Amino acid sequence: MDDQRYGQAIRSVTQFWVWTVPVLFLVLVLLGLTMRANQAGIINVDPDLFYAVMTLHGLGMAGTGFVAGLAGVTYLLARYVRVNLVIASMMYVLTVLGVVGLVIACLIGRFGPGWYLLYPLPFLANGAWPDWALGLAVLSLIVLGVAWLLGQIDLFRALVARYGLTNATCISDWRWCTRSCRSTRAGLGRPTRSWRCRGIRCSCSCYSPSSIISTWISHSRFRCNTSANWRHI
Ligand code: HEM
Repeated sequence: MDDQRYGQAIRSVTQFWVWTVPVLFLVLVLLGLTMRANQAGIINVDPDLFYAVMTLHGLGMAGTGFVAGLAGVTYLLARYVRVNLVIASMMYVLTVLGVVGLVIACLIGRFGPGWYLLYPLPFLANGAWPDWALGLAVLSLIVLGVAWLLGQIDLFRALVARYGLTNATCISDWRWCTRSCRSTRAGLGRPTRSWRCRGIRCSCSCYSPSSIISTWISHSRFRCNTSANWRHI
């Protein structure tokens, strides 16, 4: 697939997240406000339902925050590396499935041991939720966990494929730069992206994942050029 089509495909997948995440977040905020209204005595919610809503709210907020971050990082990294589009799309589909499962387990099955599912609480329902709700909730969490793990593994695979294993890890900066700097006989030590490279004559372009991450943050690029220092380009 050429770069343009790949870019379009990854943008389309990201679009789904861009629309889904705020909607999920809003719904979860509404659940939070419902709980607060109940605590304030404005409404009167059955305790079983309260704890089911609380569980869904907690799991949902933590999960939405995580997956929004993962989708954002995937999108940004896809500018530099080739993530697997099937896995990226599957991550979205499996997330939707997992969320639907959790909603059914919590709102219909009244599964409510709290978002951390502290053992043995999920098994001590005392009639508050049926076994199928527990099974569905656990299955949904497994689906979500597997989907997100696959997404992260693929991201790592893409980084390694593009930059190599050592460059794809946190030791990459100084190793990459040290080698280049050594070759110019201009400096040794362990230069890192930001300060260790400063003042060292270096004829390399220091592009590594971590410098790319700082690129996103600073909206500029770092290059270690022949005239010595890191400079913005
Ligand atoms: C308008 C926004 C929010 C409201 C009104 C709200 C309200 C609530 C309420 C009433 C509870 C019940 C427990 C308690 O009273 O201490 C709760 C629990 C919780 N909230 Fe929120 N919340 C909001 C946003 C968030 C966000 C942004 C996150 C995470 C990023 C979050 C994560 C959690 C977690 C993890 C729990 C514990 C759930 C559990 O124990 O099972 N909430 N929230």
